[in-house]
Amino acid sequence: MNQRTKGVKRNKKMGFVAEQLIPWHKTSGRHDLPWQNRCDPYAIWLSEIMLQQTQVNTVIPYYRRFIKKFPNVHSLAKASIEDVLTCWSGLGYYSRARNLHRAARIVVWEHRGIFPQSREALQQLPGIGRTTAAAIVVFALGKRDAILDGNVKRVFARFYGVDGYPGETGTSKQLWQLAEESLPHNNNPEDTKTYTQALMDLGSTVCVRSKPLCIHCPLQKRCIAFKQNRVTQLPVSRPKKRLAEKETVFLIYRNERKLLLEKRPEYGIWGGLWCFPENELHHGRLVLDSDIQPVVLPQLWHTFTHFKLLIRPRLQEVRIRNFASPALIWKSPDEVLTLAIPAPVKKLIQQHFIF
Ligand code: ADE
Ligand code: SF4
Repeated sequence: MNQRTKGVKRNKKMGFVAEQLIPWHKTSGRHDLPWQNRCDPYAIWLSEIMLQQTQVNTVIPYYRRFIKKFPNVHSLAKASIEDVLTCWSGLGYYSRARNLHRAARIVVWEHRGIFPQSREALQQLPGIGRTTAAAIVVFALGKRDAILDGNVKRVFARFYGVDGYPGETGTSKQLWQLAEESLPHNNNPEDTKTYTQALMDLGSTVCVRSKPLCIHCPLQKRCIAFKQNRVTQLPVSRPKKRLAEKETVFLIYRNERKLLLEKRPEYGIWGGLWCFPENELHHGRLVLDSDIQPVVLPQLWHTFTHFKLLIRPRLQEVRIRNFASPALIWKSPDEVLTLAIPAPVKKLIQQHFIF
């Protein structure tokens, strides 16, 4: 058994998280928010939708205005979408308002104005995911259910030392399981509400993404990330995709300080930009100076969205500029920098040709 699994076991057995968080909430959690201490599922639902992507302090005035204008699910269902969006205006993520309005109409038209009473049924409504549905059944219906939003994932990943990327299925399952097992063991609805609110508050005020306030944290004593000094490493961030690697040669032909550039085809990478030729130029248009060997310049990487390109630049002196083509031009390094050129061409000019 590794250290991580041992930590998970010990912390679960004790019910440590709930034991610590419930008293912590009394002194340090959020109280008296306008949607707290009421059992109206409509009010809880509205607040949870607003809180999905917006911080508590921003939400409060919007929540007050909204619930004054649309005090219950019937008034919201009757309203026009324009009036709903006007009231939402400034909060952002307007699909939340559209889903709220659609869900209100479903509740009124298909459920006779009564909110579904289970988490699973609530999840069928537009805009309500598992965590939002769970928060509604906990706060409004006094049920025992686990939440796991972004903040709570961070708390559990750190506290239990969960090593995987939370966006990955296995890690997500593990975190949901830990979330369920950390719920207060008793069936007291008030404890579950306090615990749930405390978890949200801890995640948004103490166990924050950067520079968490571990010295003020009620979970610090048994926190795996804190003990192992891995607070900055957890939760694990999205794995970087390994990009395909390709390589090419840049042939930098030079004649009396002027460099040869070739206009790339309009399609493909660097379409229409001026670049160093990637293929040998033939047809006797260039007379190579056979006394001077090509100079190999240091290679460089350029990263595109879907692959990495290794560029091997070679500088080749040529004796005569005896060709004519609209796709080929000779320019001094300063002039090159005024053209439409790709980033690695600019880098090479600045590193090797500008003094
Ligand atoms: N984020 C989502 N729901 C919340 C709540 N009830 N309190 C604080 N932050 C939240
Ligand atoms: Fe988060 Fe630090 Fe508390 Fe651990 S000790 S749960 S890392 S705030």
